[in-house]
Amino acid sequence: MANIRSRIRGTGRSLPEKVLTNFDIEKMVDTTDEWITTRTGIRERRIAREDESLSKFAAEAGRQAMLMAGLAPEDLDLIILATVTMDQPIPATSCFVQEMLGAKKAASFDIQAGCSGFIYAIGIADQFIKTGAYRHILVIGGEILSKFLDWNDRATCVLFGDGCGAVLMAAEEGPRGLLSTSLHSDGSMADFITLPGGGSKIPVSHAMIDANLHTIKMKGNETFKIAVRSIESACREAIDKAGLTPGDVRWFVPHQANTRIISAVADRLGWPPEEIYLNIDRIGNTSAGSIPIALDEMVRAGKVAENDILLFAAFGAGLTWGSALVRW
Ligand code: UT7
Repeated sequence: MANIRSRIRGTGRSLPEKVLTNFDIEKMVDTTDEWITTRTGIRERRIAREDESLSKFAAEAGRQAMLMAGLAPEDLDLIILATVTMDQPIPATSCFVQEMLGAKKAASFDIQAGCSGFIYAIGIADQFIKTGAYRHILVIGGEILSKFLDWNDRATCVLFGDGCGAVLMAAEEGPRGLLSTSLHSDGSMADFITLPGGGSKIPVSHAMIDANLHTIKMKGNETFKIAVRSIESACREAIDKAGLTPGDVRWFVPHQANTRIISAVADRLGWPPEEIYLNIDRIGNTSAGSIPIALDEMVRAGKVAENDILLFAAFGAGLTWGSALVRW
C-alpha cells in the first residue's frame, strides 16, 4: 500500500443565499464596519434561513464534489462530516447527508475539532485510504454557526458565517494527493472557545438558557496570541514531513478567522500575499467550512494547476490546530 495516496478529485461548496453585511450588524449591536474590517478582514457573511439546517448545505457541497469527480452516490465508501453545528445532537448529521445523497453503501460519521475539523477529517480519511480499507471518501466541513451565536455579543456575532465545503478523496497511485498532515490539541485552553450548555455537564434547562450558556463564547485576544505560533509550527511540521521547504508551497489556504493572523503566519514563512487565498471578506469565519469552501472557489476559478503544492492550516476550539499538505 506504500504508493497509495489520497487524491482530491472533486470539490464543492454550498452557502446560504442571505448576505449579512457589517452595515447590517451595525444596526444590531454597538460596532462599526470600520472596526470589523480592520480587526478581522470581514465585510459580509452568509446566514441561513430559519428553515435551513446544516445537512442541506453539507449534502449540496458533497453532491458537487462527487459530480466533479465523476462519481455516483453508490461509489462512496465513507462520508465524514466535520462540524460543531449539527442538525440535532442525535443522530450524526452525516447520516442525514448519506440519505440525501443516496449513498447507500457508505458508512458515515461526524467529527468535532472546532475550526480545525476539516484538517482532522481529511487526516482521518487519508488513513482509511492508505490502509486500503476504502477507495472513495467524501469529506465535508461546514457550519450553521448563526444559530449558535449570541446576537447581542459584538465580540463574537460579527465574526462567523454559515456554509459548507466538500472534497472527494480517492485512492490513487502516483505522486499527487495528500503528502502529510500535522494534527494537535491542547485541552488546557479548552475554555478559550466554548458553548458550555446543552451537554451532559450542563444539560438543557430553562436555567441554562436564562444564563445564556447555549451560545458561543470566545476569548478572542487570548486565542489570537496562540493561533499565530501554533499555525506556523503546524505548517512547518507538515512541510518538513514531506521533505519540502516553505518555498515549495504555491498556495497557502488558511482557515479564514482573521486576516491579521493569516498575514502574520505568512510573513513568518515568507509567503507573499499573491500566494495566500483569502475569501474572509465575503464569507467570514465558517469554522470547519472555511478551507473546503476556499478550495472549491480556487479550483472552479482555475487557480490551481496540476502539481501545485497547497498547504491548508487551521486553528480552533479545543484548542485544536493542524495543517495538511497536498500535491494537486
Ligand atoms: O476560528 C476559531 C479561532 N478563532 C480565532 O482565531 C479568533 C482569534 N481572535 C481574533 O480574531 C481577534 O482577537 C478578534 C477579532 C476576535 C478581536 O480582535 P482584538 O484585536 O483581539 O480585540 P480585543 O478582543 O482585544 O478587543 C479590543 C476592543 C475591546 O474594547 P476595549 O476593552 O479596548 O475598550 C472590545 O470590547 O474592541 C472591543 N470590541 C469591539 N468593538 C467594536 C470587541 N468586539 C467589537 C466589535 N466592535 N465587534
